[in-house]
Formats: sequence, structure tokens, C-alpha cells
Amino acid sequence: MLKGTILLGLPIVVCKTDHGVVAAMRDICPHRGMPLSFGRMRGDCVECAYHGWQFDPKGRCRTIPALVQDSPVQTDKIGVTNYPCRERDGYVWVFIPDSQRPDQPIPDVPPLPLPSTSYRMIQLSTLLDCAIDDGIVGLIDPAHGPFVHQSSWWRTAAEMREKAKTFEPIPYGFRMVPHAASMNSAYKLLNRLYPGPLMTTIDFVLPNQRFEFVQIGNTFMSNRTTVTPISDQQCRIDFCAAWNTLKWLPFAKTLFRYFGNMFLSQDKLAMERQAVGLRYKPAMMLIDDADTPAKWYYKLKAAHLDSLQTGLPLDHPLKGRVTLRWRS
Ligand code: FES
Ligand SMILES: [Fe+2]
Repeated sequence: MLKGTILLGLPIVVCKTDHGVVAAMRDICPHRGMPLSFGRMRGDCVECAYHGWQFDPKGRCRTIPALVQDSPVQTDKIGVTNYPCRERDGYVWVFIPDSQRPDQPIPDVPPLPLPSTSYRMIQLSTLLDCAIDDGIVGLIDPAHGPFVHQSSWWRTAAEMREKAKTFEPIPYGFRMVPHAASMNSAYKLLNRLYPGPLMTTIDFVLPNQRFEFVQIGNTFMSNRTTVTPISDQQCRIDFCAAWNTLKWLPFAKTLFRYFGNMFLSQDKLAMERQAVGLRYKPAMMLIDDADTPAKWYYKLKAAHLDSLQTGLPLDHPLKGRVTLRWRS
């Protein structure tokens, strides 16, 4: 299997061999620039569609079909940049090292909290035409719900209520501490099916991840949304959800996909429309407390970049628990 993509402005081809080994490399053939993703898998190698050069999962050239037997060309001296990668939760995670920090350790793939071994899982992805910071701020924004996700069965702007949520610092991020979920949400329905105290925890973790974990006794729903930069003005939202509930419900995955896609496309539309205005680089008014998570994100990112420069520990913008109040 071969799939071409772009991450951080770099063309990447992800491949999976028949033995289940995943590999990621630069999606440009070193011969004459053909994207390797137009090729095919030949055993454990990627074969370029143009002249059939073959590259193993490490990016080493193994075969150049046009070479005569006594050719002096040493194929194994030819290679294509290979990126560390790993498969998890239905995704291939590719690590793109910082060219300024060649000895940077490869971070582990962030695990999706999965308290039981039996669960169902879905993945959704969509492209998002906006800059990465605006995509991330859109992801953690608590006040857009009644306007962007308006619907008669979900909630409307007329049903806005005051919320007070407590946040605490966690490594590289912040957590909305476990709280009883708002009862005007889909959780209300879940709670009818599974009575008991329903607790929700929401984390944001640098660089780009939002986790939401819902638990009622042994029943859980866990999801992760990431916004990944493709270029300066385009990102990709990936949403992955797992749950061990509703085992009796037929088409549960289809249902989750339907609602997941609906929410994702509502967010996408709002952020893409906002990006039209942001092209004019307006000054933004981040208000307390509804925009405080956005402020934390910018501060956290700046603190992380500072700590990389200075080598000092990250100076976390949250010094302890804080309660934010807003209407949504
Ligand atoms: S361009 Fe890839 S083999 Fe020639
Ligand atoms: Fe949203």
C-alpha cells in the first residue's frame, strides 16, 4: 500500500509492506523527481512508476532496472530521505525531525486513553484551509458551540448557559479537570442509557492535540483530535474515537462517523470562513475568560520554543488550578 501526503510542506510517501512494516520517505524519486506515491509496492520495496527504481523501507535503492550487468553504478549508495514512523490507532505517525536539532530524540506516539482492551474505533480526516495556530485555537475554543454546532436536537444559541470549568497544568498542556458533562449535550442521552455519574476530562497537549475522555463506571468514550500543518495556509484535522459502549447497537460506527463528520464539517466551515477575514491580518480581541484557552495556547507554544532555545525547563503559563467562566 502506498499513500502520498504533504506534512509541514514536505512531500511524504507512506507505505506498508505485505509483512505489515510501515515506512515513510520523501515522495520524490532521486532519479528524476517523480513522486514515488505514483508507483507501487514490489515485495518490500517501493517501485517508482517512471523507470522502476526500487527503494527499501529504509529508503535505500535496491534496483535500477536500466543498468547493464557490469555497470559501475552502486545502487546502494543511492537513497531517499526516510522518516521514522509508527502505526497506532489506525494512523501512521511520521516524525519529521527539526533540521536545527539533529540529535533530537524521537518522541513516542501519544496514546489514546483506552481503559479496556475491547472497544470499537473510527477515524475521520478532513483538510482545513487555514493557518495552523488558527486551526488549533478553533479546536480548543469553548464558546463557538451554540453558533457553529447549532441544531434543534443538539442545542441552540437560545439555550446558552453559564459554565464554570476548572483547568490545571499538565506536561506541555492543560486539562479541564474531570467534571460532570453539560446535560444539554449528547452525553445526556448516553447517561440515560448508562445511568451513573458521567465524568468528562478534556486535555490540550502541544503541539496540536485535544483529548476528550468520558467515563460512566466501566463505560468510556475516548477521542483525540489533531490539527497538523500541511502548508502555511492548509492543515488537516484528524479525529479518532474509541468506545466500549453501545455494543448492542447496530451500525454504531456508521452513526458515530455520521455525527463526527457533521461536527467536523461545521468546525471546518467556521475556521475556513474566519481564514478569509484573517488574510487581512486584523488585530484580534481575545477576551476573558472564553478566550483564555487560546491565550494559554499561544503562551505555552512560546514557552516551549523558549525552552528549546535556552535548554531550560518549560515555564508553564498555568501555575496552578484556575476556574474559567463563560456562557455557551
Ligand atoms: S524518476 Fe523514478 S525511476 Fe526515474
Ligand atoms: Fe467545534
